[in-house]
Amino acid sequence: MAPPPLLPIVSSLVVVVLLLLFAPSPTTSTNSEGEALHALRTRLSDPTNVLQSWDPTLVNPCTWFHVTCNDRNRVIRLDLGNSNISGTLGPELGRLEHLQYLELYRNNFEGKIPEELGNLKNLISMDLYGNRLQGEIPKSFAKLKSLRFLRLNNNKLTGSIPRELASLSNLKVLDLSNNDLCGTIPTDGPFSTFTLQSFENNSRLNGPELQGLVPYDFGC
Ligand SMILES: *[C@@H]1O[C@H](CO)[C@@H](O)[C@H](O)[C@H]1NC(C)=O
Ligand SMILES: *[C@@H]1O[C@H](CO)[C@@H](O)[C@H](O)[C@H]1NC(C)=O
Repeated sequence: MAPPPLLPIVSSLVVVVLLLLFAPSPTTSTNSEGEALHALRTRLSDPTNVLQSWDPTLVNPCTWFHVTCNDRNRVIRLDLGNSNISGTLGPELGRLEHLQYLELYRNNFEGKIPEELGNLKNLISMDLYGNRLQGEIPKSFAKLKSLRFLRLNNNKLTGSIPRELASLSNLKVLDLSNNDLCGTIPTDGPFSTFTLQSFENNSRLNGPELQGLVPYDFGC
């Protein structure tokens, strides 16, 4: 009886070892944040090419201009203020779960503010002022427990100020001026520290709630 040929056995072992070494392991993190940002980009018009460096084939978005990562390569800042960008914001922004600064001020963003932004539980600052955003302020913002700065002024927002925002105990700066909000201004939580300047030029907003009255959306 001839011994089994050795070469095929050795080469199949080599193949198995190579497969084990290079097969993608399920714990390897995928580039989901880069994919989320790229999905945002596909909906935007960018006449001055500020998003030119956003190459989705890179392993992560940390080398892209206007994107900042922490030392574990997770996105913590998006800085696209004053960039002449137009288009809509999408739910994918809510996937940047380590984001601390969302700076999209003074562009031409339009459409609604995605309620998924309420998932950004590490957010410290959200600056969407100076765009053409419509619709209501999402109630989901009540989940942004780290939020200190919220500036949504100079847009076309409608509806009432969600009373749920009164639970944002870290909120230090709020600007909702120059919109089309209605109803009454909450008075509890951080709202006790904001001046009327935060709310000016919302022609249908009725001023602070009177203490002791049941909240009611007058004229909304
Ligand atoms: C902004 O974009 C518009 C076209 O959408 C262009 O006409 C204008 O020059 C741009 N402004 C700046 C400051 O780049
Ligand atoms: C009031 O807000 C609207 C909507 O943003 C804006 O178009 C208008 O110029 C503002 N008016 C003043 C006096 O600032």
